[in-house]
Amino acid sequence: MVRINPLVTSYPFIHLSGVRKVYGEHLAISDASFDVMPGELVSLVGPSGCGKSTLLKVLAGLHPHDGGEVRIGSPSHPFDPSKDVGMVFQAPLLLKWRRILENVLLPAEILGLPMAQSKSRARDLLALVGLAGNEDKYPYELSGGMQQRAAIARALIHDPKLVLMDEPFGALDALTREKMNLELLRIWKEAGKTIVFVTHGISEAVFLGTRVVVLTAGPARMADNFEVDLPHPRTLDMKTHEKFGEYTRRVYRLLGME
Ligand SMILES: Nc1ncnc2c1ncn2[C@@H]1O[C@H](COP(=O)(O)OP(=O)(O)O)[C@@H](O)[C@H]1O
Ligand SMILES: [Mg+2]
Repeated sequence: MVRINPLVTSYPFIHLSGVRKVYGEHLAISDASFDVMPGELVSLVGPSGCGKSTLLKVLAGLHPHDGGEVRIGSPSHPFDPSKDVGMVFQAPLLLKWRRILENVLLPAEILGLPMAQSKSRARDLLALVGLAGNEDKYPYELSGGMQQRAAIARALIHDPKLVLMDEPFGALDALTREKMNLELLRIWKEAGKTIVFVTHGISEAVFLGTRVVVLTAGPARMADNFEVDLPHPRTLDMKTHEKFGEYTRRVYRLLGME
């Protein structure tokens, strides 16, 4: 068991069992079953179109599921998707007429959180994601990687229990992406959040995840679910470790790419 985060305890924070999702006639998810422990960073990997974004939307409470069980939180730790989820998408989706600080504050405004407190938290979060000093800039003044950092800060502003990330670094160049992977691990550790991270990058999934859930080509079914037994903090040189290669080969094989 990888225990790197004090929030990781022994009851699942998310429990999915036989989850099914249809869009009209189209079966998008046929059977998703896995658990996520509090404080884990779970990578969800699978080919394009297999239903990863759909699964995130089910977790976010944006789409109802059509079968199976989705349980998030517990009676002693109730979960309200309208307040307890932070989302990061492939595009940063910053409002171009708002300054960076104002963009980060948006969910706090929507939820009606106290503004003075939220502003101070937004500044702290911008520092956490490495954007201190950029509070008053407009999105166009930031690089793609910096914009995505701001989107991560925005996803954390209301102190959500669960952060859902949908291929957040997919549009970045390879070097920026690796840098953001390291940054995300640092932010995850500091913020102590449970994260479900969707990617079709196999190496990224293994590098980031405490656990990797592999989905087959759509309609999504579980192909594998394994713990990544690599030490934290992860470093880029781990990608050359034999174990890292074994994990990535395991996923390539499952996805029929070897
Ligand atoms: N709102 C929708 N209505 C109908 N079909 C959809 C909708 N969203 C996604 N799909 C279909 O469901 C399948 C899974 O999509 P998606 O979850 O976006 O996959 P992924 O994120 O893994 O690329 C695809 O075949 C897609 O075309
Ligand atoms: Mg998607």
